Amino acid sequence: MNTFDTVADLRAQVKQWRSDGLRVGFVPTMGNLHDGHFALVDLARQHADRVVASIFVNPTQFGPNEDYALYPRTPDGDITGLAGHGCDALLLPSVAEMYPFGTAGCVQMHVPGITDILCGRHRPGHFNGVATVVARLFNMVQPDVAVFGRKDYQQLQVVRYMASEMAFAVEVIPAPTLREPSGLAMSSRNRYLDASERTTADTIYRALQAMRDARRQGDPPGRIEGVGERMLLDAGFVVDYVEVLRADLSRPREGSEPGLIGFIAARLGRTRLIDNLDLQ
Ligand code: PAF
Repeated sequence: MNTFDTVADLRAQVKQWRSDGLRVGFVPTMGNLHDGHFALVDLARQHADRVVASIFVNPTQFGPNEDYALYPRTPDGDITGLAGHGCDALLLPSVAEMYPFGTAGCVQMHVPGITDILCGRHRPGHFNGVATVVARLFNMVQPDVAVFGRKDYQQLQVVRYMASEMAFAVEVIPAPTLREPSGLAMSSRNRYLDASERTTADTIYRALQAMRDARRQGDPPGRIEGVGERMLLDAGFVVDYVEVLRADLSRPREGSEPGLIGFIAARLGRTRLIDNLDLQ
């Protein structure tokens, strides 16, 4: 695997692959990679001849009181893991390479509507930062396909909408959520949890399963949300949201509607965790 810290060098490599008629897949990450990320690389490989990953802890998607400075940075282990999964190239840019005119007055992407709810309501500006960096990365890498995890379902929808509206020639492919044996969704932020928080964190998946049971019994959306919220509060979480929405993130009228998804964001100590589950 070749590692590139400038966009120009990566582009030269991608140009070569294209002239050889090869399809390019892309997996953007913020590093501190785990099996969930490596599954994205494996999925990209199924859709492309060459796979590019990026590691960039993007400052514009963190709020002023969030964990940008603390976010775990583990480049050596990440590089070994990516190479072991057959990744062909890694873009490891500096902040100056990604934002040559600085982050303060940079051109930004804003996806309206779906960024006002769920995490968008609790992390103002977060999805502007995500859409902005993903648009830059798409321009830099120019992939045929890009893989995003369903665990960050709202992010997946924001990226899909942005890519289709801005006519990026990239197919956005969703990847299933990978879970620990306990059901906890894999996330770089799980590293922040101490041993007892880690046990408590499993309640998120159990709450989503209880919400699925409530939906199967025909409960209305509000009651389904109440089931999940009660379990989280009893376990000691500070709950940001528990919501039942349609796949397009609109509000359902009935719990009996097909295709509903349960969404949770909740905080345990200083760690904010998110997850979602298809309630079918
Ligand atoms: O999901 C992430 O790791 C980040 O939000 C992404 C898509 C790499 C953009 O910084």
